[in-house]
Amino acid sequence: MVQEAPITINFLKIKNRASWLVEGVFDKVPYRVGSLMGPLFNITANEFVDCYQEKKPLLMKRTASVGDFCWRDANEIMFRSDVKSNDFKLSFGRVVPKHEYVESYIDIGTLRHKLIKPVVYEYLRKGATLIANKIKNEPLVDRYARQIADFTGRQVVSSAYAAFGSKDSFRCHWDTRDVFAIQLIGRKRWVVYEPSLASPLYTQQSKDYEQQYPCPSTPYMDFILEAGDVFYLPRGWWHNPLPLGEPTFHLALGTFPAYTMDYLSWMLKQIPEFIGARQSLVEWEGDRNNLASVAQYISDFVTAPENYHRFMDEFVGATRVESTLAMEILGDPNCSTVPDNAGIRLCANKPHGLADSYIIANGTKLNLDEQGLRLMNCIAHQPGVSLATLFTKFPEMDVAKLRQLITQLCRQDVLELTHY
Ligand SMILES: [Fe+2]
Repeated sequence: MVQEAPITINFLKIKNRASWLVEGVFDKVPYRVGSLMGPLFNITANEFVDCYQEKKPLLMKRTASVGDFCWRDANEIMFRSDVKSNDFKLSFGRVVPKHEYVESYIDIGTLRHKLIKPVVYEYLRKGATLIANKIKNEPLVDRYARQIADFTGRQVVSSAYAAFGSKDSFRCHWDTRDVFAIQLIGRKRWVVYEPSLASPLYTQQSKDYEQQYPCPSTPYMDFILEAGDVFYLPRGWWHNPLPLGEPTFHLALGTFPAYTMDYLSWMLKQIPEFIGARQSLVEWEGDRNNLASVAQYISDFVTAPENYHRFMDEFVGATRVESTLAMEILGDPNCSTVPDNAGIRLCANKPHGLADSYIIANGTKLNLDEQGLRLMNCIAHQPGVSLATLFTKFPEMDVAKLRQLITQLCRQDVLELTHY
């Protein structure tokens, strides 16, 4: 659900599409997702989309700044995970049953769960892999996830893998989401094969389809991923990451766009509005004319641009970006504005709607006039831009009003403070 924000500041106001088209700037310069070079990548986002995204793998050597990431960080990420969740796994040729390595206990009236560490250590020593999926609120992981979200314009789900032996975590398989693997500690060998079922969806897991669509016999790539390397693997490509008998810790960051199937599912929820879809089925000869009219209705519905845009707005409007909390600035009644040196960024994976003079961020839709459009355009393309820089870029805007507007948008979780 997208909520319209109660923005009343004078240069952010509702305008219809026709009025901005006359004076808008983006009809001449269409936005391409993340045209900025990202620190994790050695190509631009446009090159990535044109040559690699959902097309073929890409190995980027030494592009991730791993800094002083160490086993203490890896241990803390695993330690803070919800070990009782199905998103937390110990893999040893199979997924080890939870009761073998997680115990529950009562902590002064509260039921808690903890790893049975002797069991976990023993499995790891034998070559098992410890896996945390859907990692959230881990700054060291979220930083990479946000870079990939900016680069791809997609939602990102983060996983971490730790191992010390030489046993593979899973046998050769395909993933149903595009993945960026970032090696943070040690090395891992990756053997990659071309897809046998192109672009599989979530419901098309390789374990259920490998008889029908077996893995090719000849590898497409066979390489060692080292600390600081980033490897992009589109969904459907067979792979088998192999530990090398030495410590390894890597992240797998999956990206989630809207798929055509999502659009069709959404369409099916709208279609009962059409009386033909509500008819009972009796027998073919009597029903065929009605079904032909339903088919025509569906065809017209799916190819109508207004339905496509309505779906995409709802899809983007339902996504959320976990912005930083800044209570002492945005929650303190004695603090009236954000500091001029504060860095500002949009709370969205991509600036959806700018081409149509609006923007959706964290479930809020802002309709933009020409000045608001230029302002949002600037913030969207320069994540972390300071308020002081905005003053110089928009000299025609009143400084006090601009400061107030940015503060208001930060309080509404449309913008966030990156540093201050
Ligand atoms: Fe995988």
